[in-house]
Amino acid sequence: MQQKIIILDFGSQTTQLIGRRVRELDTFCEIMPYNKMPLDDPSVIGVILSGSPFSVYDPEAFRLDLEPIRQRYPILGICYGAQYISHTNGGKVEPAGSREYGRQHLTYINRDNILFQGFDENSQVWMSHGDTITRIPTGAEVIGSTETVENAAYYLPSNHGIWGVQFHPEVFHSIQGTLLLKNFVVGVCGSRQDWSADSFVETTVKELKEQIGDDRVILGLSGGVDSSVAAVLLNRAIGDKLTCIFVDHGMLRKDEFTNVMRDYECLGLNVIGVDASEKFFSELAGVREPEKKRKIIGKGFIDVFDAEAQKIKDARWLAQGTIYPDRIESLNITGKVIKSHHNVGGLPEKMNLKICEPLKWLFKDEVRRVGRSLGMPEHLITRHPFPGPGLAVRILGDITPEKVRVLQEADDIFIRGLRDYKVKLSGEDARRVLAAGVPADMQDGEIEVSLYDQIWQAGAILLSDVRSVGVMGDERTYENPVALRAVTSSDAMTADWAHLPYDFMAKVSTDIINKVKGVNRVCYDISSKPPATIEWE
Ligand code: XMP
Repeated sequence: MQQKIIILDFGSQTTQLIGRRVRELDTFCEIMPYNKMPLDDPSVIGVILSGSPFSVYDPEAFRLDLEPIRQRYPILGICYGAQYISHTNGGKVEPAGSREYGRQHLTYINRDNILFQGFDENSQVWMSHGDTITRIPTGAEVIGSTETVENAAYYLPSNHGIWGVQFHPEVFHSIQGTLLLKNFVVGVCGSRQDWSADSFVETTVKELKEQIGDDRVILGLSGGVDSSVAAVLLNRAIGDKLTCIFVDHGMLRKDEFTNVMRDYECLGLNVIGVDASEKFFSELAGVREPEKKRKIIGKGFIDVFDAEAQKIKDARWLAQGTIYPDRIESLNITGKVIKSHHNVGGLPEKMNLKICEPLKWLFKDEVRRVGRSLGMPEHLITRHPFPGPGLAVRILGDITPEKVRVLQEADDIFIRGLRDYKVKLSGEDARRVLAAGVPADMQDGEIEVSLYDQIWQAGAILLSDVRSVGVMGDERTYENPVALRAVTSSDAMTADWAHLPYDFMAKVSTDIINKVKGVNRVCYDISSKPPATIEWE
């Protein structure tokens, strides 16, 4: 049976990160709303309580009865989790004199306690809380302190054991945080560490065969990583009982429709490619307002998809490439859906189809690992995210086929440039890129990767309402600028502009202006998210 750690979410911003760290320990975990602990699941081996934006004293703070959990499983409380355990077990939590925030060092560590086995002296940890534990739970012992936080970590011997840490082991700045989590997940809870991409493929293919049987499944492909991996996985399970539909709305990247269709065919997928660009161009003609453009494309996409899907008479399932972060964002911690994520919203109800989401437990980097395990080509796996409405939200103003062509050319030069430009990375930078699953060989402590693989997402934006004067040869020009956008991010919720090398930017700018007729100026977007967004519209 697949072992599982449960992370009870009290609303902290870093809950997902705890999940990722546990998965990095090759251990499956599920993030559940704090009040949805599955007490009768025999695969659970331990429980982690997350941090929270609340103080234990806030009237709206999340509370739960820990008793049934402590009787069954080892518990690790992080930040609020540790404070809540104290608060409800004879300890005391009070507002800290000053907010305990940022880097601190553990001046006292009990290395005999399993949680701190292998820790270095003065190990750096990251604190972020307004309240602090002034008295630990009755019967507990302090196992870690910093200069200002005496009760930084405690151990309460009870049933299967309870540990509390007021710092955040899941964040990068807690240098030995992963070791602490490993000590809990493996040392205390006994994880076999057998959760891997290969084991996921094996189990999921078996489950999909059982779930779907001889039914027919339809899947909407977008060219992106998630839907492509979902398709290959399903194809492995049910072969040509899977029919994929790939709609070209005319606003994809240069040659993308043809290239991706070729890739899909090489992968043995049964794909219907629908060129609906004329429909979309005519419906979008003269429309300038961003939300209106999005609505037209969303509705048009569903119409085209539906029309194709109706032709497949015996379809019972609609498969989607929904991944774990999509669903966590969709659930607030009371378990209500606050934002529904449907790549083809409304279709399942309309067509009376059952939903199949084989990647619903995976983080993005895990989806990529699964893609590799399935033998998919690297350029499909490492492809940057691309918005559903495509270049329509990267052309400011109304959309015409000519504007799309201009933008495709500029975008193509930028993206090719990012793929061709190699950089050498070492130390933490190299570790971060490797941890994201980018395949690269370490030589003399260095790896070589392309700029493309170092960033989350990039693209060009056509400022089609703006014209400026330039000079080319002896001619005066009066043409549009193109803005380039490249960001680093781990989940698209926040993003920073990528610090691209000047020589690279100089070359791309010259290439675009020389080669793309209609563009005489190139700018680089240096806004972070928030307050800007990744896309311009
Ligand atoms: P923003 O612009 O909100 O984008 O910072 C965050 C991420 O979402 C992508 N994006 C979309 N993806 N359909 C999609 O499938 C959409 O309508 C859409 N709008 C934005 C965007 O490219 C970025 O990765």
